[in-house]
Amino acid sequence: MDAQPDPRPQDGSPVETRKPRVAVVFGGRSSEHAISCSTAGSVLQAIDRDRYDVVPIGITTEGRWVLESGDPSRLAITSAEALPAVDGSRLPVALANDEGGGELVARDPAPAATGGAESLGEIDVVFPLLHGPWGEDGTIQGLLEMAGVRYVGAGVLASAVGMDKHYMKIVLQAHGLPVLPYTVVTSRQWELDRGAVHESVGSLGYPVFVKPCRGGSSMGISKVHGPEDLDAAIEEARHHDPKVLVEVTAEDGREIECGVLQGFGSNPPDASVVAEITVEGHEFYDFAAKYLPEERTRLDVPADLPEAVVKRVQDLSVQAFEALSCEGLARVDFFLLPDDRLVINELNTMPGFTPTSMFPRLWAASGLDYPALVDRLVQLALHRDTGLR
Ligand SMILES: Nc1ncnc2c1ncn2[C@@H]1O[C@H](COP(=O)(O)OP(=O)(O)O)[C@@H](O)[C@H]1O
Ligand SMILES: [Mg+2]
Repeated sequence: MDAQPDPRPQDGSPVETRKPRVAVVFGGRSSEHAISCSTAGSVLQAIDRDRYDVVPIGITTEGRWVLESGDPSRLAITSAEALPAVDGSRLPVALANDEGGGELVARDPAPAATGGAESLGEIDVVFPLLHGPWGEDGTIQGLLEMAGVRYVGAGVLASAVGMDKHYMKIVLQAHGLPVLPYTVVTSRQWELDRGAVHESVGSLGYPVFVKPCRGGSSMGISKVHGPEDLDAAIEEARHHDPKVLVEVTAEDGREIECGVLQGFGSNPPDASVVAEITVEGHEFYDFAAKYLPEERTRLDVPADLPEAVVKRVQDLSVQAFEALSCEGLARVDFFLLPDDRLVINELNTMPGFTPTSMFPRLWAASGLDYPALVDRLVQLALHRDTGLR
């Protein structure tokens, strides 16, 4: 793995004594609000307070930004009934663009004391721990670009492409990378000609997987065994996104995942060890199998695979990272088919990030523990400018 470059100025200018201020942003408007809170709890616990000033910022499910307490214990997922959420009654904050830099401003609800707004100081880097739409999809990245604030992870384009399973496949295919055959059902097609939709799905061959194009955490996804269940599955997916992807099933495919981290400077990205997920008691890796503590999902890190397969997964992961112009981090998910073919299922630009999530476990098994991983991501972001610089 790369050594981190010396962050001190090399031109004799004075060394900045203030610690970099990192805003950890979490929650958000997507259905993955709770997962994001739980990830933030872990990052807030692990980030090195001797090196960074940390400001926890929650985004409520309605989209309001507040200064959160960041109490890690309040943010953990303990059961399906009591999912963590951002506390909307806390002090509202906003990101102000001040002379090309981002400043965080608290909007005091009792304006007499402060004149309405009080600066919480300049933000050096934002860690957007947001999954799904309005976070992992380029929207907050666009906001931060406009404000000129550095941030962890993929930029606007890679985030948007990585969020949209339709365009992700188009880009991967254009780079010669293997994906499963699919068809897309737009709102207009669904409303105008369901017969044609049935015909094109039928030609893929059942069973198929029906997914919202811009979803995550397995929400809105169904495995459909025959045409009689197709309409209900499409309607379910449409609750999450009016654009729906229908895909051939990777029958008896093994689920294989690999982490990628950007290199410093012009160094190439690093691929982690490779892992396998085995789901018991569920038809596929659904929300419960992913997140609920009592489920019997097995994560083998590293996976028991021949070395040549591991190498191919790692190569394809780095190629996928570069095909989408990713930055910072990504997790690339595969199916290993019974005939030994590998296909890329998806790439996540902000993968689940608690210490027990796959991405940090992949890196821990590759020699980079959780605090070091958080640190590398913040450092990568600090060494990169916004815009086209
Ligand atoms: N084509 C497929 N064949 C077999 N299983 C699939 C297929 N697509 C998705 N799955 C199952 O559904 C899970 C979630 O699908 P995925 O496309 O990864 O969506 P998400 O973005 O919600 O994670 C996968 O981890 C896998 O278990
Ligand atoms: Mg997935």
